[in-house]
Amino acid sequence: MHKVIEPKILYFGTPVVLISTLNEDGSANLAPMSSAWWLNQSCMLGMSRKSKTVQNLIREQECVLNLPSADLVGAVDKLALLTGANPVPETKMQRGYSYESDKFGTAGLTPEPSDLVKAPRVAECPVQLEASLIKVHDFGEPSSLVSIEVAVTRVHIDEKLLMTGEKNYIDPEKWSPLIMNFCEYFGLSGKLHPSRLAPVFGPPSREEGSRALS
Ligand SMILES: Cc1cc2nc3c(=O)[nH]c(=O)nc-3n(C[C@H](O)[C@H](O)[C@H](O)COP(=O)(O)O)c2cc1C
Repeated sequence: MHKVIEPKILYFGTPVVLISTLNEDGSANLAPMSSAWWLNQSCMLGMSRKSKTVQNLIREQECVLNLPSADLVGAVDKLALLTGANPVPETKMQRGYSYESDKFGTAGLTPEPSDLVKAPRVAECPVQLEASLIKVHDFGEPSSLVSIEVAVTRVHIDEKLLMTGEKNYIDPEKWSPLIMNFCEYFGLSGKLHPSRLAPVFGPPSREEGSRALS
């Protein structure tokens, strides 16, 4: 039996991304977000123009998308209700947000230099994607929301996540993303069923292997 409801949010579960950007003074900002999806070598990010992250991204034209694993949930939650925007925007003030200039320190995370962009990577995150801004699209007007298209220019992966014997393939069985499901943190429960898509996009050796089996 389905019911018609009017939920305030439609956050059905997406991976958490920690976006690092550079502030005007050269220091780093770090913000958790989860309205992110991927296509080819690009990513679309949904955020508010009022966030320091969006202001930094538009000015600097670049960022790092750091993907925390599920075990980093404590560090991520320390960044909730913080902003690098000073003064804190009125709507955020009403929700209990406060200004924090040292988000890395607050979360106990370590900045490490990136290769191609000025913003630092988060050393503890197993996936770090350097990215450059492609386009800012207005979203859900009238509102301050924007969807931001970025192109991933360099992929850094903790080698522990690689498929055995493969240089360029991430093993989904080894990657444990942190998921924001509505406003709560979740992990993935594990593989449910063999995928018919996996052999098509997997490493050539496995594709041949799977074809040989078919
Ligand atoms: C797990 C998590 C996910 C979030 N996802 C989003 C999001 O997708 N879009 C967004 O605008 N804000 C999101 N937020 C809120 C931002 O982190 C918040 O606006 C923050 O103040 C941005 O920081 P900044 O102003 O320093 O950029 C999320 C917060 C948390 C803790």
